[in-house]
Amino acid sequence: MSAIRSIAVHKHFGGCRAVDGVTLDVEEGEVCALLGPSGCGKTTMLRLLAGFERPDSGCLMVGGEIVAGGKTFVSPERRRIGMVFQDYALFPHMTVEANVAYALGRRAEGAAARVREVLELVGLGDLGSRQPHELSGGQQQRVALARALAGTPKVVLLDEPFSGLDAALRARVRQEVRAILLAAGVTALFVTHDQEEALSLADRVAVMRDGRVEQVGTPEEVYGRPASRWVAEFLGEADVLPGTVDDGWVDCELARVRAEGVGSGDAEVLVRPESVSLSLGPAAGGRTQVEGVVVEREFFGHDQLVHVELPSGRRLRSRSLSHPVWHPGDRVRVQLDGPVSVYAAASPA
Ligand SMILES: Nc1ncnc2c1ncn2[C@@H]1O[C@H](COP(=O)(O)OP(=O)(O)O)[C@@H](O)[C@H]1O
Ligand SMILES: [Mg+2]
Repeated sequence: MSAIRSIAVHKHFGGCRAVDGVTLDVEEGEVCALLGPSGCGKTTMLRLLAGFERPDSGCLMVGGEIVAGGKTFVSPERRRIGMVFQDYALFPHMTVEANVAYALGRRAEGAAARVREVLELVGLGDLGSRQPHELSGGQQQRVALARALAGTPKVVLLDEPFSGLDAALRARVRQEVRAILLAAGVTALFVTHDQEEALSLADRVAVMRDGRVEQVGTPEEVYGRPASRWVAEFLGEADVLPGTVDDGWVDCELARVRAEGVGSGDAEVLVRPESVSLSLGPAAGGRTQVEGVVVEREFFGHDQLVHVELPSGRRLRSRSLSHPVWHPGDRVRVQLDGPVSVYAAASPA
């Protein structure tokens, strides 16, 4: 059964179609990312699920029950949903314990025990009497998470949960948060504009654009088999080579490869840098390698991104480990050694 189900949900603000027909299922116990650029409707989608907004049309279900749709509208406090806001929204003058207890409202019975339990779960058992300003950013976020989990919700919604943390902390905190969500056994939907975050944290990723979900899949599926050129380019680095599809194969400057499901005619071949390898010496000829010239190199320590110019003058990037060190002017053999995506060429405007 789906823990969250959205069926053709629309929400307009004046002329702005913030959410424009979102259909999405999140399975029980799953960590799902809603990934898309700023302004594509992610926060609005969470607010609709939480009950802070009413959909114009469509239906929303949580734990198998309709929470919004037709004449039904369940108020936020009756939805069994925990929410972690982008800025955490902790009460600054209250202790950690009081912040978490607040989520339990008047359910005083057993509240103290439950507060201790969730603080243990998020690893803050010893810090209950502190105030938020006495905590690090990562700890504040765990307080927000503890508060969201306190009422044993069916579903936790997190809005850009890591955007307030600096880069060094972010990678560690997100794995901690994932472990906490799994330990709590709760279904989670988190919103992010950060591709790496979505790919590294989620069991499944829903890619959103202009109020719509363009593709849903495992991180490997959306990255490796993007449904459109837009999804491919949003999810990671990619260069485009023009090609021609004929009878299920596409020919482009670098190679001739399978192009399943694409009709004959002009096509675009999207090549990710890690699918391009470079080696010394002239190309042996044939269909799978060409000669190129290194024009630029970006060094990142753990790897390097090398820009090469192909005989046509087109440029392609190759990502590889830090060795060998390539220099501008080097003549190299350029070879395709990974998957590519093929799309019918966009019709001229
Ligand atoms: N309360 C509102 N009134 C008017 N426009 C809004 C409101 N909330 C969101 N929007 C608009 O809806 C679109 C989607 O916003 P939002 O859901 O916040 O996007 P995201 O979280 O993906 O950045 C944006 O164009 C935004 O300006
Ligand atoms: Mg937002």
